[in-house]
Amino acid sequence: MAATVIDGKAFAARVRAQVAAHVATLVAAGVKPGLAVVLVGEDPASQVYVRNKHASTVEVGMASFEHRLAADTSESDLLALIARLNADPAVHGILVQLPLPGHLDSDLVINAIDPAKDVDGFHISNVGLLGTGQKSMVPCTPLGCLMMLRDHHGSLSGLNAVVVGRSNIVGKPMAQLLLGDSCTVTIAHSRTRDLAEVCRRADILVAAVGRPEMITGDMVKPGATVIDVGINRVERDGKAKLVGDVHFASAAEVAGAITPVPGGVGPMTIACLLANTVTACCRAHGMPEPQGLTA
Ligand code: GUN
Repeated sequence: MAATVIDGKAFAARVRAQVAAHVATLVAAGVKPGLAVVLVGEDPASQVYVRNKHASTVEVGMASFEHRLAADTSESDLLALIARLNADPAVHGILVQLPLPGHLDSDLVINAIDPAKDVDGFHISNVGLLGTGQKSMVPCTPLGCLMMLRDHHGSLSGLNAVVVGRSNIVGKPMAQLLLGDSCTVTIAHSRTRDLAEVCRRADILVAAVGRPEMITGDMVKPGATVIDVGINRVERDGKAKLVGDVHFASAAEVAGAITPVPGGVGPMTIACLLANTVTACCRAHGMPEPQGLTA
């Protein structure tokens, strides 16, 4: 294997330590950052995420407010809860766990969150601010990818970046962030013609398509940095296994650096959620923001 393996677990631990240090200074100044997480229904994967978010929030010294609502909660009840959280001065960040049950309009619910407390960066105002290069809340997973890329490369200016995937949560904001750092950016997706050829142009290749091991070594430019956002549960040799959107073994033969799954981008998402909550708290109180934890 030629590639350097980027250790997202260790990187995320450093980010959490930075967050914890900043939380300590805020608490000493009489302000305790608080994150509210709203979970509607009993989706097992969402329950695991929410439990991990709660534990990490408490670990860095922030207040964690969990709101678990029944799967048949009405839209008006959910909107009323969001209005209460918007008005609560102890809450600096609000996250509504997705996906929501089918009878709830996700766009309506997300856009009801105060944009200043939208630590997911999904509110239409934050999407617009990011797209126009203004200060915003940045979606956690792409922010984590950006931090790892900056750490590995220093400057990203002038590099060819290809983002495979066009989701609102990862692909589109990732492309905006790379553009903000002066990359030449291509967004590829399932309909892209000759995807392998497009990917082979990338100095930075971000895979966020949700298809197990779709990006193989022959699609990677020698020496490229490969960021694998995928988390896919598959069965191999009769055993359940977690794999990314990148075929790790073949890509690592060609790439200069690569993130593994698990232990790459995954741990960075929660670390960046905590970072966004501290940033939101600092902005709410007119206090200096932590350095290096925002785009
Ligand atoms: N479900 C899966 N990932 C996410 C995320 O980053 N934010 C929210 N709100 N829900 C999710």
